[in-house]
Amino acid sequence: MTRVLVLNGPNLGRLGRRQPEIYGYTTYDELADLCVGWGRDLGLDVEVRQTNHEGELLDWLNDAADEEIPVVLNAAAWTHYSYAIYDACGQLVAPLVEVHISDPTQRPEVFRHSSVVTPHAAAVIAGYGIDGYRMALEHLARN
Ligand code: DQA
Repeated sequence: MTRVLVLNGPNLGRLGRRQPEIYGYTTYDELADLCVGWGRDLGLDVEVRQTNHEGELLDWLNDAADEEIPVVLNAAAWTHYSYAIYDACGQLVAPLVEVHISDPTQRPEVFRHSSVVTPHAAAVIAGYGIDGYRMALEHLARN
């Protein structure tokens, strides 16, 4: 089975409780279980992680680069300003799919309208709620 890392950045550990009008009521633990199940159905061995510490996400991306593991990444707010995440994504060898639960480009805060991940992404899936993670895994399974 192809191994896939689903990596989540800051504040996504509070899914279900965090601004549910924007991010929905599915908790992070439920999301993680869903991703593993969707992956299994697609023949993917999915591991889901979340961190509020940028260096930890950088370490995971560096490991994914070394091990040539495909990545689904929701870098959350780091998406919009972290050049360290930009550089880490640029080193990935296997495909990277960028996911956002909301569609940041349609939100009122201008800072959300740009992404350091997109230049390195094989696909960007945004605005489909947590279903976007399933779509991202489907993309990786197809390609
Ligand atoms: C997000 C969108 C980002 O703008 C925001 O900072 C997040 C979540 C999303 O999944 O919609 O934390 O990445």
